[in-house]
Amino acid sequence: MLGRVPTYRIRTYGCQLNESDSEKMAGLFERMGLSEDPGDSPDVLLMNTCAIRENAEDRLFGNLGVWKALKAEHPNMLIIVCGCMTKIPEDLNRIKKSFSHVDVVFGPQDIHRLPELLYERVSREVKIMQVSDRDYLPDDDDLPAVRCRKFRALVPIMYGCNNFCTYCVVPYTRGRERSREFDRIIDQLRELSEKGFEEVMLLGQNVNSYGKDAPDKPDFPDLIETVSKMNLFSRIRFMTSHPKDLSDRLIDIIAQNPSIERHLHLPFQSGSNDVLKRMNRGYTRERYLEIALRYRALVPDGTLSTDIIVGFPGETEKDFQDTLDLMEQVQFDAAFTFIYSARPGTAAASFSDSVPEEVVSDRFSRLLALQNAHSLASNQSVIGNSEEVLIEGLSHTNESVFTGRTSSNRLINFTIPDGTVLGADPLPLGGGTGAAIEGKRAIIRLLKAKTFSIEGQLEYFIDGR
Ligand code: SAH
Ligand code: SF4
Ligand code: F3S
Repeated sequence: MLGRVPTYRIRTYGCQLNESDSEKMAGLFERMGLSEDPGDSPDVLLMNTCAIRENAEDRLFGNLGVWKALKAEHPNMLIIVCGCMTKIPEDLNRIKKSFSHVDVVFGPQDIHRLPELLYERVSREVKIMQVSDRDYLPDDDDLPAVRCRKFRALVPIMYGCNNFCTYCVVPYTRGRERSREFDRIIDQLRELSEKGFEEVMLLGQNVNSYGKDAPDKPDFPDLIETVSKMNLFSRIRFMTSHPKDLSDRLIDIIAQNPSIERHLHLPFQSGSNDVLKRMNRGYTRERYLEIALRYRALVPDGTLSTDIIVGFPGETEKDFQDTLDLMEQVQFDAAFTFIYSARPGTAAASFSDSVPEEVVSDRFSRLLALQNAHSLASNQSVIGNSEEVLIEGLSHTNESVFTGRTSSNRLINFTIPDGTVLGADPLPLGGGTGAAIEGKRAIIRLLKAKTFSIEGQLEYFIDGR
């Protein structure tokens, strides 16, 4: 490694909390003097894993196989595996037994120890396995992050989860809920605003239980209202909300503060009260509908998205019909739909009445068809409008198309007419345009609806906040 700067590459799977952890680990690598290498043979390759469904695991084991071959070609390469899968004993054992080329393994609660563990591995030539059971410590908040997006800062406001939904591994992989100190969050947000971030994403597995561990301190509605009133960002996003903890007050605050996104992600999982009970979700379909309809009434330009699980043990056709019925009533603008996957160590893994595969796949296609129709109708309903979009850069598929999102989280792919200016200057030509306009805001005319996106054309850029 002498004579040149050693390199690292991070591959991240799973949710935005994992992305946020990866940003912190990138910050640690950079502080150690490593630089990022997107290629296939960096000096240090780190896999930040997710364990939420079985296919997440399959992906890790597939990739570890590929890396074994890479390491044979580059024997000095160090391979690190961290993240939620390391907290699943079955997976940890498999990594230990079958993938001897992995050099360091640590858990999500140990990310701040990355430099120390790497140093130990390099200096003592021993394999390192450190997967601690502790909850997050306050020092985790102070890690130097390298943010992967110029326009959006991911900011965890709490860690862990106390809900123990019977299908879910998160409470086992991420430990108990812990809210970050209100004042430290606010200080960090001030800094991020000064650095020029237009958008902040407040993160937690259940942001609505923020502050529950300190009842005399601010709760989530207090926090988001304070952030909005400080006028630090043009857009404040947050996820995920849990229906059992979402208060009417939060919806009132969203309605009154336009810098809070016009979008609510509110997973309902199942429309059947029986299934919700066996999932241990803590709300009924009636309560869910009440919240959703109140949101629709008070935030009329807002969108609602959700997560749905099909094929939970014991789900009957009647239960599934209840799910479709709830979807018809709410008309979700978008949804993430999942086939139930039994996870080791969770309560539902021992439920005996699993739904046959062909029944699940038939239900899944019916669910998808209904949601796709609703998503398309939702996008069609805004065609002809001109909306503010925060630009994310060049589209992945077409060099003359750019992408961004509205405050309602609609994905917009747009073109820029010739002769458009950015402030006083003409736009840089060719590939430079994407980088020059990333993080800018613009008004886009919405022209054509698709199921997952809208095509549009830029009208003009917006200056200032
Ligand atoms: N904390 C969030 C969700 C985090 S996981 C919440 O409670 O809403 C994201 C989504 O993955 C969940 O909403 C659920 O729909 C899905 N999911 C979690 N465990 C699953 C499992 N075992 N099988 C299938 N889908 C699952
Ligand atoms: Fe998992 Fe439920 Fe916690 Fe969400 S609220 S992370 S689904 S246990
Ligand atoms: Fe996956 Fe862990 Fe997030 S299991 S969804 S990476 S909290």
